[in-house]
Formats: sequence, structure tokens, C-alpha cells
Amino acid sequence: MNLIIFGPPGAGKGTQAKKISEYFNIPNISTGDMLREVVKKGTSFGRKAEKYISKGNLVPDELVIKILKKRIKRKDCNKGFILDGFPRNIKQQKYLSSLLEEIEKPIEQVINLIVTDEEIKKRLLGRRVCSECKKNFNIYQSNSDEKIDKCPVCGGKLMIRGDDNIETVKNRLNVYSEQTKPVIEHYYKKNFVIEIDGENSPEGVFKDIKNILEDIFDKDQICC
Ligand code: AP5
Ligand code: MG
Repeated sequence: MNLIIFGPPGAGKGTQAKKISEYFNIPNISTGDMLREVVKKGTSFGRKAEKYISKGNLVPDELVIKILKKRIKRKDCNKGFILDGFPRNIKQQKYLSSLLEEIEKPIEQVINLIVTDEEIKKRLLGRRVCSECKKNFNIYQSNSDEKIDKCPVCGGKLMIRGDDNIETVKNRLNVYSEQTKPVIEHYYKKNFVIEIDGENSPEGVFKDIKNILEDIFDKDQICC
């Protein structure tokens, strides 16, 4: 079960990739999360990556490819994986195809989350991330009128992601249109794409994805 979850910034890729990973018991490989970890460590690689991330530009291919390659070759990917945030341009897509061909793990399905720009801006500006457990929340998804100021799961401090400000969000959307859209067009031509309405509730979106994947793959075979 080798999957890619696709969609513009804020489409819900991370939210759904976690659910898919837990339900189908496959590792969730998020290049954004891996890069943010590297930035936190403050290495020279991290400092370099941070300059691109904070502006909403793509981190140079050679840096991202290096961390992706190391991760995808790990043993836990043998039964499958879900990629979130990679490939982001045609060069990365070509690299991924040749790498997966070499390790005999071709991409089987690409899940494309469809969400409007208006909804994306609302979600990104309303996102809060727990500084402790790293869970994502949204001020617009809160069930009560109370302002959420600490993590409902672990009590940790809620932070705004460095690239969730209107200027950077606009650039992230431009980068998506110019560099990332050609990648999904490539997968459409190959007939790999499952289109999902990303504007339902997170649970509703997951139900649609799960139903389609269970039709395609034999869950028992994957999980055991
Ligand atoms: P990355 O971390 O990949 O960010 P992104 O693509 O901009 O997407 P987000 O993580 O912001 O959104 P998401 O689609 O995961 O949505 P989420 O589930 O969080 O990349 C960040 C940066 O790293 C890039 O700009 C680049 O610099 C660099 N980078 C990463 N990969 C790279 C690569 N391959 N090459 C080069 N550079 C790379 O949801 C968003 C919010 O909405 C949350 O608050 C959530 O709670 C809420 N939400 C989720 N689903 C729903 C729903 N159904 N209804 C209502 N709210 C929802
Ligand atoms: Mg994400």
C-alpha cells in the first residue's frame, strides 16, 4: 500500500495521513514534519531549511531528497507508506519514480484532497499546534465558544506555525499552483488519482478515503 496524499497547503493532508497511518498500520512520512524537526535542532541544514520554510518557498530538492531517501529505505516501509508533502515539483516526482522503481515499491494510489482557497486561508490562519504533543487544532473547529489556549489533549502550550501568516500563506498557494500542480496533473494522466472532497468534517473525509482504499486493498493482508 504505497500512497501519496496530495492537496494544497491546509487541505488536511497531515490530518488525514495520520488517520490513514493508524488505521492501515503503515508509516506516515511527512517531509514538512521532518524538516521542522531538523529546523528545531538548529543544525546548519536546519538553519538553511528555515529560510525557505518561513517564506513559504520550497526547500532545495537535494536537501529534501536526502531525508526522504533515508526514511523510505527503512524497514517499516516494506508493507507500505503514506507520503505527505512529497513530491512537490516535477524534479522530485521523477526522483521518486526512479527511487521506487529501484526498491520495487511503485506508487499505487494518489489521494487528492479538493479544498477551495477561501477555506484553506481560514484553516491555516486558525491552526494551533501543541508545542508538546505536536497535535494540530483549529480555532474554527472548537466545539465550545471558549477560546482554546492550551492543548485539550496534554495541556501543552498552543503555538501558531511560523508559516501560517497571511503573506506566507499567499506565497505557499502560489508555489503550489506553479510548482506542485504539474505533479498531480502527471498522476492524473497515469490514472493513479482518487479525488476526495476535502471540505467535509475530518471524520467524513477519512470515511470517504477509507471506503475507497478498502475497496482497492485487502485491509487484513496489509495489517497482519
Ligand atoms: P508542509 O508541512 O507539507 O505544509 P503544507 O503543504 O503547506 O500543508 P500544511 O501542513 O500546512 O497543511 P495540511 O494539508 O497538512 O493540513 P492539516 O491537516 O495540517 O510544508 C511546509 C513547508 O516545508 C513548505 O512550505 C516547504 O517550505 C517545506 N517542504 C515540505 N515538503 C517539501 C518538499 N517535498 N520539498 C521542498 N520543500 C518542502 O490541516 C490544516 C488545519 O486545518 C489544521 O488546523 C486542521 O486541524 C484543520 N483541518 C484539517 N482537516 C480539516 C477539515 N476537514 N475541516 C476543517 N478543518 C480541518
Ligand atoms: Mg501538513
